[in-house]
This record gives sequence, structure tokens and C-alpha cells, in this order.
Amino acid sequence: MAEPTPTTVRLQNIAQSYGQSAALMAAVEIGVFTAISNGAGTYEEVAKAVDIHPTNAERLMVMLCAAGLLEQADGRHRNAADVERFLVEGKPGYMGSWISFTKPQWTQWGRLAEHLRIKDLKVMGSIETFTVADARRYHAATYSIGLGAGRRFVRQVDLSGRKRIMDIGGGSGAYCIAAAKEHPTIRGVVLDLPVVCEVARDFIAEHGFADRVEARPCNFTRDPFPADCDVAIMASNLPMYGRDMIASVIRKAHDALLPGGQMHLIGEMTNDQRTGPWGPAYWGLGQAVSDSLGLAHSEADVLGYFRTAGYLDVGLHDFIPGSLSRVTGTKAK
Ligand SMILES: C[S@@+](CC[C@H](N)C(=O)[O-])C[C@H]1O[C@@H](n2cnc3c(N)ncnc32)[C@H](O)[C@@H]1O
Repeated sequence: MAEPTPTTVRLQNIAQSYGQSAALMAAVEIGVFTAISNGAGTYEEVAKAVDIHPTNAERLMVMLCAAGLLEQADGRHRNAADVERFLVEGKPGYMGSWISFTKPQWTQWGRLAEHLRIKDLKVMGSIETFTVADARRYHAATYSIGLGAGRRFVRQVDLSGRKRIMDIGGGSGAYCIAAAKEHPTIRGVVLDLPVVCEVARDFIAEHGFADRVEARPCNFTRDPFPADCDVAIMASNLPMYGRDMIASVIRKAHDALLPGGQMHLIGEMTNDQRTGPWGPAYWGLGQAVSDSLGLAHSEADVLGYFRTAGYLDVGLHDFIPGSLSRVTGTKAK
């Protein structure tokens, strides 16, 4: 059978899909999903609950339905299951701040073609010049999903018998906090940029672990790692750097770990054909707007970095399917 003649619809929808991003971010910012969870179901009820014009409620909710974020029956609306779980304020899974995490780059994405013409790319992106206020906003967002990821990690990985974790680019400290909760004697050190350490200390203290988890300033592209750890974690910063830098950080962690120590790299990785999934492709391309050498690494790339560094029993595990994979390796005893 002949292939159907292509139409322009898919291309138009992709070109305009920033409208979908904007609708989701705005709906979170004005509290539409929380209002719907609390019982507002019609355009008028939502408009009243979040104090906007009914026409604006209507056009926003039509887009949210088109995007599959709201479901409709008999003129009333309800949140899709993931929206109800993660985007209703006050619920334990709430991650509204993560939805707007990339919004500060909005204008620069609009200038992507200009960024793509830049040939003088830097090792580190915009993160190098962050202030404490930037770090606070950034890590309010990473913490809103990081704590769940940390809990998933400590359920997946047996840390019993392990003594001290270094969390490379550990951000809010979410993984060390989750490990400290689960294992009463384990200790941790969050290695991150100085401004981020200030923020991490607040999160760590909030959970009451300041005696077991420290935040130590470390630029992992050039500073040494502690030599007294038997676990190394590196989570959600893989696409921020190019291949040579990631390979050298993994090697440096290997050399610093105690014999028998384990490294876990959790990151957005593409498949080996480099055709997806969408998330790693997005984070990789996103490095172009900060003119850095970062890119999406494939699962095969990361397995290769581990093997070249000298790790044994190197393996690939699903972490959050479609989003994050976990590569592990063990240092020889
Ligand atoms: C997206 S956050 C992830 C934070 C944390 N690992 C998590 O999963 O919740 C990326 C982190 O890597 C850190 N980072 C990036 N480059 C770094 C560098 N050269 N040295 C230290 N930390 C770095 C950032 O400051 C940030 O905290």
C-alpha cells in the first residue's frame, strides 16, 4: 500500500508546541490543577477559584485537555493521573517548582539558531556564574523531585555495610539525605560548587542530618575527591559536560574510592542508536543555550567510561524508564 501523502499538521504542531509548555507552566503558577483537585470542574468554577477571566480559564483548559493534562466528561474537568499526583499543591509528590525549572532559559531557546552558530564552546555552562539566590531557586526545583529519586535509589541499591558516600554534584543533598534516613550509620559528603553547598546545608539541617552529611565545596572538573568513601553517586548532571570531562570525572572517582567501593551514575542517556528518548535529547540540546560542550551521552558511552576507568562488574539498570538510567561499577578490592 502506498504511504499516505504527508500533511503539514505534525510540523505545525511541533513548531507551536512551546504553547503547550507555556500552558503547563502557567497552570501550575496560577494553581489550576490544585483548584480542580479541590472540586472546581467547569470553566467558571476554575476561573473563580484562581481569580482569572472565564475566557482565559476556557482557553487555557482547552489547551490542557488537548495536551492530555485534563480529562473532560459532561463539561466538567478532572486532572489526569500524573497531574493529580505531582501537580496538586500540598500533596507529598508535589513538584510544581520542577515544572518551571527550565523557564529562565526560555528566551535563550528562542535564540537557539544563534547559539548553534557559536563555535567557541566552554567546558562549563551558566552554572559556573550562579549566585546563592540562583542556586536556591534551582535546588528548590531539583529537591522537589530529587528526594523521590533518592528514595528510589536507596530502595534499588543495597547500601548496607557501606560507610561513606560522596555525591558528586549532589545539589540539594537529596540522595545523601535519603541514604541517611534509610541507614542509621551511613555518612555522606555532598560535593558541589560553593554557592550550592550553602543551599545543601539548609536541606540537610532541615532533615536533622548535619552530623552525618556534610556539604563540601568542590568543582568536580578540577578539584580532588575525598579518599575515604566506599560509594560514589553522580546524578542528573551527565549532559552538562562533554565526553572527555565525564570520562575523567568517572576515572577520578574510581581512583579516589576505597578498594571494593561502588560508583553509581544516574543520568539522562540516549539509546545506542542516538535516536531518543526525548528527555536526554532535550537536556543535551539544552546545553547549546549555555554555549557549553555538554551533550546527551548514550548508554554505551557511559558503560565505556566506566570500563576504561577500571571498574569491574559494570552494568546498566533502568532507573526511571524513559528518563534516567543507572550505570554502576565496582572498584577492585
Ligand atoms: C540537576 S542538578 C542535580 C543535583 C543532584 N545530583 C540531584 O540529582 O538532585 C546538577 C548538579 O550538578 C552540579 N554541578 C554541575 N557542575 C559541577 C561542577 N563542575 N562541580 C560541582 N558540581 C557541579 C550543579 O551545581 C548541580 O547541583
